[in-house]
This record gives sequence, C-alpha cells and structure tokens, in this order.
Amino acid sequence: MSFLTIISIIFAIFILFYGIFAFTGAPYVPSHKQEIELLFKNLYPLSKKDHVIDLGSGDGIVLKIAAEHGAKATGIELNPVLATISRLRLKKTKNVEVVIQNFYSYHFPKSTTIVYLFGLDRDFKRMEAKVQNEANRLNKTLYFVSYGFESPTMKPEKTYRAYFLYKVTPKII
Ligand SMILES: C[S@@+](CC[C@H](N)C(=O)[O-])C[C@H]1O[C@@H](n2cnc3c(N)ncnc32)[C@H](O)[C@@H]1O
Repeated sequence: MSFLTIISIIFAIFILFYGIFAFTGAPYVPSHKQEIELLFKNLYPLSKKDHVIDLGSGDGIVLKIAAEHGAKATGIELNPVLATISRLRLKKTKNVEVVIQNFYSYHFPKSTTIVYLFGLDRDFKRMEAKVQNEANRLNKTLYFVSYGFESPTMKPEKTYRAYFLYKVTPKII
C-alpha cells in the first residue's frame, strides 16, 4: 500500500467520524464509563420501568450500561460507522436498539422516560426544544440528562459531577 493510499484512508476515516458533524452536531467523543455508572446509580437510579434514549449514541457505551441496569435503551446515531460498531458491541445485550437517523427528526416512543445527551453547548437550545416538543407530543413528563453542559434556560432538578438533570413537563400550546 502506498503512502498516498494510507493518507487517503486516514483522511476518509477522519471525515466519516468528524467531518459531517461540523454541520449537524457534536463529534464523536464517548462519555466516561465510570461517570455513566455513577449517573445511573446515584443521580437517576435506573429500573426495569425506564426507557433511555441516547441522542447521538456513538459507540453505544451509554446504551450498554443502561441495559445492564435493567432498562430498555435506544440510541439514535447519524454516523453509520458508529451505529454499526455499536450494534456489533451490543449484539448480546437485551432490550437495546440503535437507529441510524438524525435525532432532530426522531420521534421518541411513548415508553421513553429519560433522554441522555452529550452534545455541544451551541446546540443545547435546539436540543432542549426537541425534548420539550416530544414531551408535549407524548403528553408525558420526561427526564433529560446532559453530560458536561448546562441549559441556558432551564433550572436543573439535580446536579451530580458533570451531569445536569432536568424535568421536562408537557406544555399545552
Ligand atoms: C459526544 S458523542 C456522544 C456519544 C455517546 N452518547 C456517549 O455519551 O458516549 C456525540 C454523538 O452524537 C452523534 N450525532 C451528532 N449529531 C447528530 C445528529 N444530528 N443525529 C444523530 N446523531 C448525531 C455523533 O455522531 C456522536 O456519535
């Protein structure tokens, strides 16, 4: 394999992982495993009754830990490479699915209880509006947990380490 071919492959992988996200949303950086464990143990203890939606599920680490806590977990991931990697990783894990879709156009299922986001600061308002719209559409209160970023408008119910937990109640418009 020539040097030029190797450089082209590295460039193509880089574009696949990061390029499109300059326009669509956060690039791929996984949440820390230990932090997710602590979140689902201490800030929002998960149970079998929960259905977690991970907006931009990356390599599937959040889905894996959520399922290990007994919850159902759905990841929405735009990048087909990451979606495929996570599907392979979660092959033996029950109650987990990964949907290849832009999360802005995804309709949350009625069973949704908590929405996980590790996004970008600049996208927060849009994401917040998305969760509010889904709570309105489902006529259901949803919990919304953000890793690393605080809402510019909502007051968190609780905070823990790098997590902010919000309660999004439906609004009649
Ligand atoms: C910071 S990573 C977080 C991954 C995972 N949630 C975690 O916490 O480990 C953000 C992910 O969102 C995905 N993403 C960005 N914009 C998206 C969009 N509009 N729709 C679906 N996925 C998106 C990226 O491909 C990336 O995998």
